[in-house]
Amino acid sequence: MTIPQTANLTEVYPLVPFQPITGQGVFLRDAQGREVLDLYGGHAVASLGYGHPRLTSAIKKQAEKLLFQSNLVAMNIRDEAAEKLADFAPDELSRVFFVNSGSEANENALRIALQSTGRSKIIAVEHAFHGRTGAAAAVTWGAKKSWYGFPHTPFDVTFVPRNDVAALREAVDNNTAGIIIEPVQGVAGAFDFSKEFLVAARESCNQNSAMLILDEVQTGVGRLGTPFGADLFGVTPDLLTTAKALGGGVPCAAILMTDSLAKDLGPGALGSTFGGAPLACAAIKTVLEIIEEENLLANIKKIGDLIRNKCVFGPILEVQGAGFLIGLKTKPRAAHVRDALLRCGILTGTSSDPHVLRLLPPFILEEQHVNLLLQALEEFKSETLQ
Ligand SMILES: Cc1ncc(COP(=O)(O)O)c(C=O)c1O
Repeated sequence: MTIPQTANLTEVYPLVPFQPITGQGVFLRDAQGREVLDLYGGHAVASLGYGHPRLTSAIKKQAEKLLFQSNLVAMNIRDEAAEKLADFAPDELSRVFFVNSGSEANENALRIALQSTGRSKIIAVEHAFHGRTGAAAAVTWGAKKSWYGFPHTPFDVTFVPRNDVAALREAVDNNTAGIIIEPVQGVAGAFDFSKEFLVAARESCNQNSAMLILDEVQTGVGRLGTPFGADLFGVTPDLLTTAKALGGGVPCAAILMTDSLAKDLGPGALGSTFGGAPLACAAIKTVLEIIEEENLLANIKKIGDLIRNKCVFGPILEVQGAGFLIGLKTKPRAAHVRDALLRCGILTGTSSDPHVLRLLPPFILEEQHVNLLLQALEEFKSETLQ
């Protein structure tokens, strides 16, 4: 397999040696007809896999009806998508603003927390990933060394160690605008927090009149087997951001917030040219309907448990994460296991932990597909034993 080369694109991503041109269900196919089982879902985006007939048809119909109009005009499809998303989310988060990417959602959520409290400090967690734009990068662990690239952060940030309840409580004070946390850290390799840590975050915010922001860009829309991580941990934030799986492949993101926070946002407080576009809203509404009607949350729990129970052998030492945000701790470097699996026809992803391989499969994954992964891991095992 050769790594594809490109003449005009800026080469900032290390490419894997596979170039898909079509997709069906949970499989991708290249120009030579080679089929690859996609357990990575394009960085957690392909929630319904590829070519789901109902999603494809909803997108096509909306494109024919009205491809684009902005937030300047009211549109039924935007109202319907917002209603569906608010219904899917915890009851307290009844207000929605649509944007285009996870970073943009976090950028706005952080700004709302800073503005509404009139304070200047945000607490974030070590190893967190919240995006590459100014505010999102400021709360991303290690960003200073890589994509941060700005001369300074736009506000004060204090990082606390993961699962350190005492440090978290200690860090929050009367200048804290908010705490931002991923319910399960995605890019870090599906790292699990204790319920105690998330509850402490909520309590510290309550005690100090600060905002809890849950970044559910990767964990949201069912990936953990519950509608959101907020449901899994029983912790309701003041602001929740989500993206990736939300549009099933159509770029979109959302900020959800409490009614009282939304009431303080006057005209012009938030804005986006493409956010809330009819095409994205048709996709959002349909993705959420399909997740409910096809009972995909139950499927995520069942197949997620199967992977957890069966995959710990050969190069895999341990499993972390929840639902379909799965971190496989690997004995060799995760990139080495990923490359070997791809040679066996299975696409997986790495993480910022060099020994954690990430699985972010489509929600429609079945037992027969898990068996393909098990076979490939068996092959890896015998390859390394030789
Ligand atoms: C938890 C989390 N937040 C934010 C982002 C940034 O999202 P985007 O790449 O859509 O800007 C990501 C992307 O991986 C993420 O995993």
